[in-house]
Amino acid sequence: MKDLHSHLLPGLDDGAQSLADTEKMLKTASASGISVIAATSHYSRETDGKYDEAFEKAENLAEKHGIRLLKGTEYDLEYIADVPREKLRPIGATKFLLVDMNRNYIVHAMTNLFFELKLAGFQIIFAHPERMLRADDLDKLINILTENDIYIQMDSGSLVGRYGHLARKNAFRILDRGGCHLLGNDAHNAHHFLFRESRTILNKHYGPGLFELLAEKNPSALLAGEDLIPSPKRKGFWERLLHGRG
Ligand SMILES: [Fe+2]
Repeated sequence: MKDLHSHLLPGLDDGAQSLADTEKMLKTASASGISVIAATSHYSRETDGKYDEAFEKAENLAEKHGIRLLKGTEYDLEYIADVPREKLRPIGATKFLLVDMNRNYIVHAMTNLFFELKLAGFQIIFAHPERMLRADDLDKLINILTENDIYIQMDSGSLVGRYGHLARKNAFRILDRGGCHLLGNDAHNAHHFLFRESRTILNKHYGPGLFELLAEKNPSALLAGEDLIPSPKRKGFWERLLHGRG
């Protein structure tokens, strides 16, 4: 499995604070069957200059645990415009930037920003849209993302209830309507690797195959420069009754 969202580099953000924390996280990830992790620390002007050094240290540890570590950064949409384009750090050797949004409203300038980043040659993965909005705003946001060809990454923690009732409900809302592309652990510590639990939940609600699409096939396609397959829309009650589950 491939996890394109983590905070395991030491001392850069609210994730791992020491190399010992990093190693604990790598051990747990490896035991849960993960072979590739993107080290997507939160961007901050103060710590960005220390990224490469922290990455090198973690990369050596990751190899020991049979994990390939990829570079990356998680950018808050509100501040990404302040980062010089040549300093933006996409995931691995791709052109994909991981972005998130922390304030509880839809950024009005979002579409312009997406357009500018696209012009600069980047593509975008929007992290965990399920975590911050009420249902009507969530629908608006998902429409904007879909119209702008932005890939959607959901947190495994949302599915298992780590972020509370709203995030879990939203996660199912996004999956029911189809169009999710990736599942990430967004791990800040060793307890946040929740792929196993997510697989059980997804298998129960959507049948086999969805977890593999979001945690293996699509991440592999993204790293290979291929298009991703959006998760399918869930059939309604009558459709399922007439034409079978799915
Ligand atoms: Fe994150």
